[in-house]
Amino acid sequence: MITIIVAIDRKNGIGFRNGLLAHLPGDLQRFRKITMGHCLIMGKKTWESLPVRPLPGRKNIVLTDNELDCFDCADTARSIEEAISLCEPGKEIFIIGGGAVYRQFMPLADRLMVTHMHEEFPADTFFPEIDPDEWYPSEMKAYLSEDQDTISFTYTTYLRRK
Ligand SMILES: NC(=O)c1ccc[n+]([C@@H]2O[C@H](COP(=O)([O-])OP(=O)(O)OC[C@H]3O[C@@H](n4cnc5c(N)ncnc54)[C@H](OP(=O)(O)O)[C@@H]3O)[C@@H](O)[C@H]2O)c1
Repeated sequence: MITIIVAIDRKNGIGFRNGLLAHLPGDLQRFRKITMGHCLIMGKKTWESLPVRPLPGRKNIVLTDNELDCFDCADTARSIEEAISLCEPGKEIFIIGGGAVYRQFMPLADRLMVTHMHEEFPADTFFPEIDPDEWYPSEMKAYLSEDQDTISFTYTTYLRRK
């Protein structure tokens, strides 16, 4: 099972200046819970944007044609096939970004776990369109904000149409 996990805004924006668009503490906790103990595949820029490296309790695999700035801190892969081969059998594979890596894994993913933020932010990195002919929503849960300081969002899980 290959799962893409992502938070997107109304226009599919996912990042700006190598950072996230918004701080959603509940979403980060959910991300930690869902991915704990499993394999994470990410691009080098997302790796560099992490506040804590590697993300603890999970196998961190970084796609790059170069070296990482730390020794032995994560596995590296030079292709998506190599990245998948580094994941241990029995563990789930989570694709955690960013834009370049999501695009390459869209044709291979079985499941998309998308946090749809009900807002639009300045963005320079985008998630591909979720084609309704290819994907259907299997679960949805909305969290509506009651004040101006927090963001409303909907968790939607999409599965690939057979
Ligand atoms: N909203 C969200 O859920 C979310 C999640 C994650 C990230 N983001 C955001 O996304 C943005 C970063 O995305 P991005 O598209 O700029 O960068 P990225 O996908 O994180 O990383 C791109 C880099 O990964 C390496 N790479 C990608 N595919 C490769 C392949 N097949 N083989 C070898 N190396 C490969 C290359 O590194 P080298 O140049 O070193 O070879 C490439 O420059 C940031 O703003 C981040 O905050 C958002």
